[in-house]
Amino acid sequence: MVDLEMWKQTALRDLELPNGVVMSNRIMRAATWMSQTEEDGSCGDRIIETYRKIKAGIVVTGFQFVLPEGQQLPRMISNTRHEDAKGLKRLADAIHESGSLACAQLVHCGAQSNPFLSGGLSAYGPSSKDVPTQTGGVTQAKGMTIEHVEKVTKAYADAARRAFEAGFDVIELHGAHQYGLWQFFDPTFNERPPDDPYTGSTMDGRTKAPVDAVVAVREEVDIPVQVKVDAKSPKVTPEEVGELAKRLGKAGAWCVIISGPNAVQSPQKAGEGYFREDALKIREAAGKGSIRFGLVGGIRSPDTIMKLLGEDKFDILQLGRPLITEPWLLDRWAEEAGKGELTKSRCISCNKCFREGISGAVRCIQFPAC
Ligand SMILES: Cc1cc2nc3c(=O)[nH]c(=O)nc-3n(C[C@H](O)[C@H](O)[C@H](O)COP(=O)(O)O)c2cc1C
Repeated sequence: MVDLEMWKQTALRDLELPNGVVMSNRIMRAATWMSQTEEDGSCGDRIIETYRKIKAGIVVTGFQFVLPEGQQLPRMISNTRHEDAKGLKRLADAIHESGSLACAQLVHCGAQSNPFLSGGLSAYGPSSKDVPTQTGGVTQAKGMTIEHVEKVTKAYADAARRAFEAGFDVIELHGAHQYGLWQFFDPTFNERPPDDPYTGSTMDGRTKAPVDAVVAVREEVDIPVQVKVDAKSPKVTPEEVGELAKRLGKAGAWCVIISGPNAVQSPQKAGEGYFREDALKIREAAGKGSIRFGLVGGIRSPDTIMKLLGEDKFDILQLGRPLITEPWLLDRWAEEAGKGELTKSRCISCNKCFREGISGAVRCIQFPAC
């Protein structure tokens, strides 16, 4: 028998965001590239219908690229030009229809950008480097000049303005999964010299690009900003990520979401909430009250949700794959709670949804009706 009082006090507790907007529960739909835009990245009927079905406290969109050169995957959402505004507004409206708040995830994929999708524009990262692609190839990324990094920072602010004017309630900067902002923080990618303001050899240099992006967005529009980060990498410790989180909080971000470079693991093998331990170290290093903390990765059952939000005191949780196969999962849990039982997500974490996205559109093939 489930402890319904505990469920109410954890998952269903509301949360006021810094601008006074209230999130009605602690569950966010994690950013999920659905591969469902039109070929030019604009939001047409197909992606709108998908987002209309999803319900969460906040629904974070799949990553929206902020400059044409910063795209990695096909049919990502474009947030690069004035013409994108109409589709973005339809997207925000569709998310609001279920009573969810809408969050736009913004990205520049940096050295992981795909020149084949950007009309031959080179991939640019912090340093010139060969970077493995997800499809087994190699991208020869070029290093950005200081002016180029500043142009990307401004592109985040411009994209945030378009999202804000389209009706989005929150911005999430994608600083995880070894994309652009993370690349500046991680010496694996950032080999800029010690006299460069974005150098990979000092904490000031490594945190400058993500911190500047938060500041640029906050100066452009009055909207809460959260940042998704990796928990660690071969050259970055969770304690260092704690320092990054502290600086992001000082720069005006309200929350960091802890993910990792191997984001889509199997909770059957890695355990539910597989970044929990690193996230606890990150929070400890950042210090109390510096910023709020969210966790993503392999969270599947109401019992785990109650533990992570209750005992472990995470502020919010994000669920990705479970809301691909059951966009209405929160409604199911509400119905089950009425009967005194809560059953776990039906997602088996096979990751075939992702592979479907490369060839067509992201969808659950175990339960195709979704
Ligand atoms: C099909 C698919 C698309 C994804 N797209 C994004 C994305 O656009 N941005 C992002 O930050 N993470 C993306 N992710 C990772 C998820 O946000 C999340 O971190 C990951 O799936 C782990 O959470 P889960 O176990 O609840 O699925 C994607 C994952 C999948 C399976």
